[in-house]
Amino acid sequence: MTTDEETPPPGGPGIGDYGRTFGEVYDDWYPPEFGDGTAAVAALARFGAGGEALELGVGTGRIAIPLARRGVRVHGVDSSPEMLRRLRGKPGGHLVRTVLADMADCDLGRRFTLVYSVFNSLFCLPDQARQTACLAVAARHLAPGGRLVVDHQIPAGVSPGISARHFHTEEDRFRFSLVDCDPVTQVMDRRTVVVTDGDTVSYRSVIRYVWPGELDLMAAAAGLVPLARAADWKGSPMSADSPGCVSVYRHRAPGEGAKA
Ligand SMILES: C[S@@+](CC[C@H](N)C(=O)[O-])C[C@H]1O[C@@H](n2cnc3c(N)ncnc32)[C@H](O)[C@@H]1O
Repeated sequence: MTTDEETPPPGGPGIGDYGRTFGEVYDDWYPPEFGDGTAAVAALARFGAGGEALELGVGTGRIAIPLARRGVRVHGVDSSPEMLRRLRGKPGGHLVRTVLADMADCDLGRRFTLVYSVFNSLFCLPDQARQTACLAVAARHLAPGGRLVVDHQIPAGVSPGISARHFHTEEDRFRFSLVDCDPVTQVMDRRTVVVTDGDTVSYRSVIRYVWPGELDLMAAAAGLVPLARAADWKGSPMSADSPGCVSVYRHRAPGEGAKA
């Protein structure tokens, strides 16, 4: 682990690549209010009130910067030097303490009132073993009485093979994705294609999605127990067609059985 963002973090091939693909377009595609970002900041501010927070996969600070503006002292881990550089260059970026590291294998040597992972950052880790390792990292950094909050999408109608999804249309551009899904490995290989007059650019991302029950099991393996789960940041109840899931965990108390 290092705070020198010119040095690549330890890890296997591909770790730290995210910003090379998405750094330039990230803040344009995902402005702060995207995906209920405003409600996310409000909820996280309540969990982190009076303490310090750690975001795993902080990106360009879409959530971390407004959270820091609300008085929470926010630290952010990311494996992409490019994403962290963009965070630091934004107004308010100096409020977030950034660490270039692999969120599945790091130790900052301190604990936080709130550890959180939002907007599918956990899905960037390529398999169940690394995702479970990330939850162990989260547990290790959680202070006694602290909370881990994990926010992720629930893929609708997962079926094998390729499906297309329209994203966004502006006057001069059209954005859609082609997703090749393997329900056995839970890996989605996505090509997002941006078409403008006379130009087509494609961006590739490979994610491994997680179901809520699997997240509980991975959390249990890290010594965490579920406290609450909602379909969104406003606390709406989960239903069969909830598009997302916000889960809250705490440390398992000594002598308390694993619940998942
Ligand atoms: C979907 S973005 C989310 C960024 C931010 N949380 C947000 O809400 O906008 C996922 C982030 O996770 C980071 N990431 C991917 N793999 C990582 C790893 N192994 N360790 C740390 N960060 C990682 C990427 O660089 C990227 O910034």
